[in-house]
Amino acid sequence: MKTKIVTKKHFEFYGCDTVELAREYGTPLYVMSEDHIIERCNEIKEDFLQKYENTRAVYASKAFLTKEMCRIIKREGLGIDVVSGGELYVAIKSEFPMEKVIFHGNNKTFSELELAVENNVGRIVVDNLYELEMLNNIASEFDKKMEILFRITPGVDSHTHKFISTGQLDSKFGIPLDEEILYGAIYKAIQMPNIELKGFHFHVGSQLFENTSHLKALEILINLMKEAKERVGFETRELNVGGGFGIYYKNGDERAKLRDFMDPIMECLKSECREFNLSIPQVIIEPGRWIVGEAGITLYRIGSIKKIPGVRTYVGINGGLPDNPRPALYDAKYEAVVANKMDEENEDIVTIAGKCCESGDILIWDLEVPRLTPGDILAVKSTGAYNYSMASNYNKIPRPAVVMVKDGQERVIVKRETYEDLIAREI
Ligand code: LLP
Repeated sequence: MKTKIVTKKHFEFYGCDTVELAREYGTPLYVMSEDHIIERCNEIKEDFLQKYENTRAVYASKAFLTKEMCRIIKREGLGIDVVSGGELYVAIKSEFPMEKVIFHGNNKTFSELELAVENNVGRIVVDNLYELEMLNNIASEFDKKMEILFRITPGVDSHTHKFISTGQLDSKFGIPLDEEILYGAIYKAIQMPNIELKGFHFHVGSQLFENTSHLKALEILINLMKEAKERVGFETRELNVGGGFGIYYKNGDERAKLRDFMDPIMECLKSECREFNLSIPQVIIEPGRWIVGEAGITLYRIGSIKKIPGVRTYVGINGGLPDNPRPALYDAKYEAVVANKMDEENEDIVTIAGKCCESGDILIWDLEVPRLTPGDILAVKSTGAYNYSMASNYNKIPRPAVVMVKDGQERVIVKRETYEDLIAREI
C-alpha cells in the first residue's frame, strides 16, 4: 500500500494516480473504489434503513463478488444476495453472517440447496414448485425449517434492455400470476413442515431510472397480499422489491437517488396496507449495480492505431470483450479518458477496439480523444458492475487483476491471471 502523488496530467480516481496504478500493476486492470462503495452504503442507511423501520438491504453480489467485497459489505452492515452455489461459497469463505444471505435462482440444484440448508442461509427465494419440494425434503433431512419467500413474476415490463428485464409475464423467473399455480404453491408451502413462508419477492429489471415498473409491481403484490390473507389466511411479513436502480454510464444518465425510488414505494405500501387493513411487511431492497457500478474503472494500454482514410480510426486496447462483454451483449455505452493526457485537448474521434478475434468486440464507438500514441493509458469509467463478474478467458486471455483503492491508497484484492492459470485445470 502506498499513497500516489497525483499530477494534473494524470487521471485521478479517488485520490490515486491511475497512470501509476497501470505502471505498478499492469493492464488491463480493474480498479475499484472502496470509498464509493461506502458512500452508496451510507446513502442506503440514511435514506432507507434509518428512515423507515423494519427494512433491510442486501447487496446483489452477482454485480461484483470477491471475499474482500463480502468483508466490506459485512462491515457496512448490509446483507448479500447470492444466485449460485459458487456465490454462496464465496460468502461462506469470507465468514459472511449466513442469516443475512438471500439465495436466488430459477433453477437451484440439489447440491446448491443442500449447501444453503447446511449453512443456515437466512432466506431462500423459491422460484417454482419443483424447488419448493426439493427444499422441503432437504430441510427435513437436516431437521431444519427454512424461511422462504416466493419470487413472483408481476407481469410488468420495465424500460430497459430486454436481456436485463425480468418482471414481464413471459419470463423464466418466478411464479406467474396464475390462480392455480400461485395459490397451489402458497397452500403447499404453508402446510409444509420444514418450510416457513415469510412473503414475496419481485425484481422488475436492471439499470432503471424511474420507479414506475416497481410501483406497478408493488400494486400487484399488495393485491396478492390482500387476497392471500382473505383466501388462505396467509399474512405477508416480508416483501422484497428487488434492485435495478440505474447508474451513470454516459452523458444523459444520472444515478438514481435512492429516496426518489424508495419514498414513493414506501408511501404507497403504507397507505394501501392501511386501507386494506394489512400489517406493513418488512421491506427489503437488493441493489447490485447501484452500489458498485460507478465504483469501478478499467485501465487499458493502447497499442495499434489503424486509420482508414475517410472511414474511421480503430484504436486497439489490450483487453475488451473478455473483461467487459456488456457492449457486445447489451449494446452498453461507456465513457473513457486518456489517463496520461488529461491536460491535452481532444483532437480526434476514434473507435476503441478490443483485442478479441471478433468484429463485435468494440468497446466504444466514436470517442473524442487527444492525439494518441501507442502506450497511452485508457481509463474506461463505470465498469464496477458486471464486468469482473462476467469476465471470461475467451481467446485464452488471462483475466485482469483487481485493485481496491481507499483514501488514496491501493491494495490488490485479486491477482492477475497467468498463462499457467489458463491450463491449470487441464488433465
Ligand atoms: N435481485 C435480483 C433478483 C436480480 O435478478 C438482480 C439482477 C438484482 C437483484 C440486482 O440488479 P441491479 O441492482 O444490479 O440492477 N448482467 C446484466 C445485469 C443482469 C442483472 C440480473 N439481475 C448487466 O450487465 O447489465
